[in-house]
Amino acid sequence: MSELILSKTQGHIGIATLNRPEVLNALSAELMDRLIEVLTGYDNDPSIYVLVLAGSERVFAAGADIGEMAEASVVDMSERNNLARWLRIKAIRKPIIAAVSGYALGGGCELAMHCDMIVASESAKFGQPEINIGVMPGAGGTQRLTRAIGKFRAMEMVLAGRFLSAKEAYDAGLVTRVVAKEQFLDEALRLAETLATKPPLALKAAKEAVLAVDNLSLNSGLEYERRLFYSLFATDDQKEGMRAFMEKRKPEYKGR
Ligand code: CAA
Repeated sequence: MSELILSKTQGHIGIATLNRPEVLNALSAELMDRLIEVLTGYDNDPSIYVLVLAGSERVFAAGADIGEMAEASVVDMSERNNLARWLRIKAIRKPIIAAVSGYALGGGCELAMHCDMIVASESAKFGQPEINIGVMPGAGGTQRLTRAIGKFRAMEMVLAGRFLSAKEAYDAGLVTRVVAKEQFLDEALRLAETLATKPPLALKAAKEAVLAVDNLSLNSGLEYERRLFYSLFATDDQKEGMRAFMEKRKPEYKGR
């Protein structure tokens, strides 16, 4: 059987590629478990600073595996506890860049939204079409999409099942940048390489601070940010970064 997730590293970058082409990378439980294993492995590997999560040029992911859910009962669904899987992805501390080409639908769109930046190819299509199969988004779509693009556009996607083109998604604030189809993976890797030159502990702290915006008031968020900022003065990389600036040389970060 072929690997559901292809994994490889490139310098300080850990790359995970969804690989279930026969069903458009439908996110089966087994695929999700393997994905979590790979992403968590990178998160725990001190030589990896940034993660890239990619699909193929044809499809990022067409959603949860409908075949696994079609005949499920409420008890089946709640016993499967898929939320626990998504929480494992949410818990990844290092920045994740999604490289999206083709469909990112349902759980696929939700997976892209679990990432921290989205590089999209011109052919990317984002959607939450669960309404067309009798349900609604169940892996954060109603919450993350609404926060990303606002209530009125999110409502149309969730209630009418409308897809956003890459350009529309960019204009709405859902993606970081749009590039030509043949460029999407290279561009995601280029962005990852930029991040990989940064101090990894500061990357993690900065990700944590930005994500805190969803749960904290402005005052609590400012306080939280300040504490994370101060905490970085306990790192060697802060000394190295600021000394290198003063000495007009390139910093050499160690993640310490
Ligand atoms: N689950 C299981 N199998 C899927 C799938 C999915 N989400 N999406 C596609 N496939 C399978 C198809 O059944 C088909 O298999 P066969 O060749 O054996 O028939 C194969 O992948 C190719 O798909 P299509 O022939 O349908 O390809 P297409 O190019 O004509 O259409 C598509 C592409 C518009 C993406 C269409 O496949 C589609 O609508 N897929 C379902 C999208 C969807 O509803 N996603 C939401 C799932 S629910 C969810 O994600 C819940 C959640 O919030 C967690």
